[in-house]
Amino acid sequence: MTDDDTAPDPGTALRVRVNGAVHELQVPGRLSLADALRERLHLTGTHLGCEHGVCGACTVLVDDRPVRSCITLAAACDGSDVVTVEGLAGPVADAVREAFAAEHGLQCGFCTSGMLMTAVDVVTRRPDATPDDIRHELGGNLCRCTGYVNIVRAITRAAADLGTITADAGTAVTIGGRA
Ligand code: FES
Ligand code: FES
Repeated sequence: MTDDDTAPDPGTALRVRVNGAVHELQVPGRLSLADALRERLHLTGTHLGCEHGVCGACTVLVDDRPVRSCITLAAACDGSDVVTVEGLAGPVADAVREAFAAEHGLQCGFCTSGMLMTAVDVVTRRPDATPDDIRHELGGNLCRCTGYVNIVRAITRAAADLGTITADAGTAVTIGGRA
């Protein structure tokens, strides 16, 4: 409790790497990571749907783990490495994007940035995931258009394609394109 609870929030210093670039920001303690990305850094590829941690449209990677950025405080990401859909790069991301296009894994596209982030995580972590596994992994990402069938096909295809790509290239797979 302070003497004056109506005093403006002086903010918190935040140093965060986003898509490979380091940013130093002063953020209100209650600012969400989603709002920091969209309003401070103009990375509007991260979408906001429910803003309650339910729909997964706002999913980004923080230190290689998918998180819902609408319920993650920006200040809690101090020192973290964040990847948004704008920063997805590398063989996993390429395979996932190409598979979503080939399998028609989107319609309106509103859920797609969050779906891609989750898909990259799934393909990286569980390259042998079955369609049932993928459906389970997608439990935190809602899509109102596709019925999920083509999204599951796309993730399955990306994992299969990536197996071919990495076997051909003999390279290790990295999430979000980072070594
Ligand atoms: S907008 Fe974050 S989970 Fe829906
Ligand atoms: S493609 Fe429209 S919500 Fe998923």
